[in-house]
Amino acid sequence: MAGSPAPCSVELLHAGHDREGFSCGVPALDQYLRTQASQDARKRVTVVFVLTPDGKTVAGYYTLSQHSLELTALPAETAKRLPKYPHVPATLLGRLAVSLAFRGHGYGHALMMDALRRSLAGSRSIASSLVLVDAKDDAAATFYAKHGFTTLRGIPSRLFLPMATVAKLVEQG
Ligand SMILES: CC(C)(COP(=O)(O)OP(=O)(O)OC[C@H]1O[C@@H](n2cnc3c(N)ncnc32)[C@H](O)[C@@H]1OP(=O)(O)O)[C@@H](O)C(=O)NCCC(=O)NCCS
Repeated sequence: MAGSPAPCSVELLHAGHDREGFSCGVPALDQYLRTQASQDARKRVTVVFVLTPDGKTVAGYYTLSQHSLELTALPAETAKRLPKYPHVPATLLGRLAVSLAFRGHGYGHALMMDALRRSLAGSRSIASSLVLVDAKDDAAATFYAKHGFTTLRGIPSRLFLPMATVAKLVEQG
């Protein structure tokens, strides 16, 4: 996209969003938005947020849901700060993608910060100790690592960020 990035807002996915026009270069993420996301949202399996400049075009999207993680999956340094319950409540940022037409203008970062703000706000009503993400490939893992995420023990594609760190990031803006 040439020039300055268009101002965008984040909305819950609705029927007026052009899901067919969305393409991020990862077929599974495009397909998910086109065919599965609305149904998952309706069935309350996940909440789907869309970044849009005009209420129709989908510049990007992400999904959030509740999750739980085995304490043993966390690095010892993190685990020792938590009570010794077998499972840790977490928030899963399951998917995050920006359309090819909107790449490289900070929208990915903006979506990530929006997801972290909502995760933090939610954790104040329903406890969550971590935000988890699934990296589809090495580039995605690098993108998440840039935001401070680190890998779980034995699951290199899944990364986490403690909610205390999320709070600091959100505070910094
Ligand atoms: C990863 C993705 C969301 C980034 O979107 P974007 O709008 O281009 O990202 P931004 O412009 O906000 O860039 C934010 C930072 O991440 C970096 N970054 C962006 N894409 C990256 C990538 N693929 N790998 C590594 N770093 C990346 C940018 O260089 C930038 O760093 P800086 O702040 O130091 O300059 C986008 O490339 C995408 O949708 N990829 C396909 C789907 C995907 O991999 N999703 C994530 C895992 S499911």
